[in-house]
Amino acid sequence: MSTAIPTARDVKLGPTRMLIGGEWVNAASGKTFETVNPATEELIARVPDADEADVNRAVAAARQAFDSGPWRKISGSERGRLMTRLADLIEAHKDELARLETLDNGKPLGDSLAADLPLTIACYRYYAGWADKLHGKTIPVNGPYFCYTRHEPVGVCAQIIPWNFPLLMQAWKLGPALAAGCTVVMKVAEQTPLSALRVGELIQEAGFPPGVVNILTGFGPTAGAPLARHMDVDKVAFTGSTEVGHLIMKYAAESNLKRVTLELGGKSPNIVFADTDLDAAAEGAHFALFFNQGQCCCAGSRLYVEDSIHDAFVARLVAKARARKVGDPFARDTQQGPQVDKTQFDKVMGYIEAGQRDGARLECGGGRVGGRGFFIEPTVFTGVDEQMKIGQEEIFGPVMSVIRFKTIDEVIQRANRTVYGLAAAVWTRDIEKALAIANGVRAGTVWVNCYDVFDAAAPFGGFKQSGIGRELGEYGLSNYLEVKTVTVKV
Ligand code: NAI
Ligand code: MG
Repeated sequence: MSTAIPTARDVKLGPTRMLIGGEWVNAASGKTFETVNPATEELIARVPDADEADVNRAVAAARQAFDSGPWRKISGSERGRLMTRLADLIEAHKDELARLETLDNGKPLGDSLAADLPLTIACYRYYAGWADKLHGKTIPVNGPYFCYTRHEPVGVCAQIIPWNFPLLMQAWKLGPALAAGCTVVMKVAEQTPLSALRVGELIQEAGFPPGVVNILTGFGPTAGAPLARHMDVDKVAFTGSTEVGHLIMKYAAESNLKRVTLELGGKSPNIVFADTDLDAAAEGAHFALFFNQGQCCCAGSRLYVEDSIHDAFVARLVAKARARKVGDPFARDTQQGPQVDKTQFDKVMGYIEAGQRDGARLECGGGRVGGRGFFIEPTVFTGVDEQMKIGQEEIFGPVMSVIRFKTIDEVIQRANRTVYGLAAAVWTRDIEKALAIANGVRAGTVWVNCYDVFDAAAPFGGFKQSGIGRELGEYGLSNYLEVKTVTVKV
């Protein structure tokens, strides 16, 4: 591992307070908590530890901005212009933001620059284009009436985001909300608060009125829960664990039936047929699992390999995993940084133990890398089945599970043997097989001969317990709009 790991001094930090009603503030309680560099376990900064008092203040600011601020009177094209300006500002600061993302999250700087920042910028630009294209229909009803629909903003939105793609998840949430004309109280993940706060400054610089976007730092039970329970919040959008997704629905049900969209966990099947280009499939399978330290909701974490090529394919996978460069996320050749925090590190190591205990075969990896930072060796298990803990539960780390299969009907059945349904992929040269998988697997996204191809225009979200609703694209936008029917006697 390289020793030249930058410290907080090498990266411009940006604000370490919360954005409420256009002001940068501390928690009312004065409490703070630490955000830590996962590569060094060193303190980066302390940020406010928001609780219900801060949530109330932020919701009041968002409510006021929605009900009586200038925001509601701003035209769609002007909203789009503000959003485009924000995208331009993020682009102008992309190196700074990428470094901040890498410092706080641990992801390789090359990934922050090549994936997180371009996708973030594209998302704001895409939704900027929608802002002046939201309109209803005229409907020819019976009788002497003129009937039309309006697509109105749903109102004050609570948005709770995770730590695996902090800037990108912020964009996926803010993009459609702002295009629709909503106001927002966002609670960022406690592990990675910094990049979102810097974007908060850019939001101000772009010229959004105060209170349109409010950003809270804090923990789930003390800040996220009161936000999701709040009676004056019209919608909650959440990305994170399925466990907390259940709680968010409960909070909505117990409070005001606010609208709920959820983007939750996954255990996505990645299916490799013998007829495929094995090199491309091996590269795709490696990327599908190990990208972002394995911390992807849609990670290809159940890798189904057809019996006849199993051993040859596993040999390729193991070679790739062994060659993967783990270390300093700021080093140019690093492919894998640390897991985001100690909790995630311990959880992943626990799954590696469980895999061995349940009789899966450890082909490579399985250990910690170095004595400092939350680094884990790229790990490959074979002989996994869907009954094992590692074949069932979301690991969210660099642990690949290979499962052998023989027939197409068998693999469809087994791929669906999960509570999740976020994504799936298939590798084959046979269009019939590709379409059989695309139709047969119950998942919100299916990739054919590719993986993790994202575009702001293409919807993403889960079947089953992987979520409710879609993000991105026109479908994502629709979750931020209410349809109003107006009937006029003529
Ligand atoms: P989490 O679901 O606890 O956290 C996600 C967000 O929800 C954070 O902002 C957190 O503060 C907030 N939150 C937590 N409890 C809450 C509550 N009671 N009310 C309102 N908000 C609450 O996820 P965590 O603990 O960071 O990771 C645990 C596991 O979740 C991971 O190992 C992974 O399996 C999964 N996960 C999935 C993600 C995805 O992209 N679908 C992202 C992050 C985690
Ligand atoms: Mg951190």
